[in-house]
Amino acid sequence: NTAATQLAEQAQDSINNERLQKAIAALAQFGGRDDGGVARETLTPIDLASRRHLIELARSLGCEVEIDECANLFFRRPGSTDLPPVLTGSHGDTQPVGGKLDGAYGVIAGLEVIAALNDAGITTRRAIEVVAWTNEEGSRFGPGAMGSSAYVEPERLTAYRAVLDKDQISFGAALDACLAEASDVSRRAPLRPLDSCVELHIEQGPVLERAGAGLGVVDGIQSVRWFRVVCNGMAAHAGTTPMDKRSDAMAAAVGIAQQLYAHAAQEAASNVRLTLGRWQVGPNSVNTIPGTVEFTIDMRCVDASVLDRFEQLLHRATADFPWRGNITVECFFSRAPTHFPQAMLTLIERACTRASAQAGRPAPLHLTSGAFHDAMYLADYCPTAMIFVPSKGGISHNAAEETAPEDLLLGAQALAYTLVELASR
Ligand code: GLV
Ligand code: MN
Ligand code: MN
Ligand code: MN
Repeated sequence: NTAATQLAEQAQDSINNERLQKAIAALAQFGGRDDGGVARETLTPIDLASRRHLIELARSLGCEVEIDECANLFFRRPGSTDLPPVLTGSHGDTQPVGGKLDGAYGVIAGLEVIAALNDAGITTRRAIEVVAWTNEEGSRFGPGAMGSSAYVEPERLTAYRAVLDKDQISFGAALDACLAEASDVSRRAPLRPLDSCVELHIEQGPVLERAGAGLGVVDGIQSVRWFRVVCNGMAAHAGTTPMDKRSDAMAAAVGIAQQLYAHAAQEAASNVRLTLGRWQVGPNSVNTIPGTVEFTIDMRCVDASVLDRFEQLLHRATADFPWRGNITVECFFSRAPTHFPQAMLTLIERACTRASAQAGRPAPLHLTSGAFHDAMYLADYCPTAMIFVPSKGGISHNAAEETAPEDLLLGAQALAYTLVELASR
């Protein structure tokens, strides 16, 4: 046992479960719904109020607070040196209706680690920073993970600022309002170096629960691509227009969708995931033939070549569709698979093994993330990895999202150990 490991163990054992659960519940009040869900889409008034809550919480723990051009919030517990810090955290935004844990858990657990280090009187060599990334979800402004991707590549922000939400508010305008509200917070310079990054998150899938494991060592993130398909036909009378004289945008969209689903069934062995999640129909009237149909495609797989084949099929299906209208396909998000470095996985495995053993739980499981996360972009920037805790029923992006309190505790304990080891180097 080195001195660093002893400190890491002490930090792990100093996590205060009651404080952790209370802090999760307190953040869930912002956008909290009667059904237990949370509606806190990025940069909405309720998101801004939740950010103020986090700033006050971090300041009460003695943290220095910074905000950058993309309104990412950083809470810093100084170390004994000026070496690049160890970063943890996740995102504060939710889906239109999400749960209280997706994103929030990683931020709150990071702040709990800081509180535990304060309690234990531990000073680390490197500073530890907790981040709350802006717009990870991508539901209001697409793509997702805007804050983290702009951190590692600030040039992206120019294009992001022009993205509009469904009410035609630009991401740039929403950002400026958020930055104005946080005018008492120091501005963080771009591209500040980081030593390493660890993101703690709920699994949002069924793997850990099925295995009975309390903790997961995440070895990477599967590949993801998002497309926007727009079918432009001609709106016309539903009762009078003969079937063979129509330019029906819905017929085209449904035809393409059927080909995609059929292909997904053929590729089932690859565990590909296909979601056609958002549809807009114009004019959306019961007795008018749809003139325009726009829909989104979210496709994911650990094997990027499966997504290449999907994309070929998509282009063939849209080019060959036999009708008088036209179809455009635009890819607005694409990431290759992410692989976290072995040295980070080894350390996280050690942290998870100790926490699990102390709680009398099975050994941690290794798994690949089905969801994308901010860690995906941080992995381009510094050694990065993730820790997962189980999700009840594998449910997430839903108000029913839940994790057992004892599992939330395990995750925070594993995080504390990992951060202190990293910050001691
Ligand atoms: C992020 O929430 C994702 O869709 O994986
Ligand atoms: Mn998330
Ligand atoms: Mn999410
Ligand atoms: Mn996510």
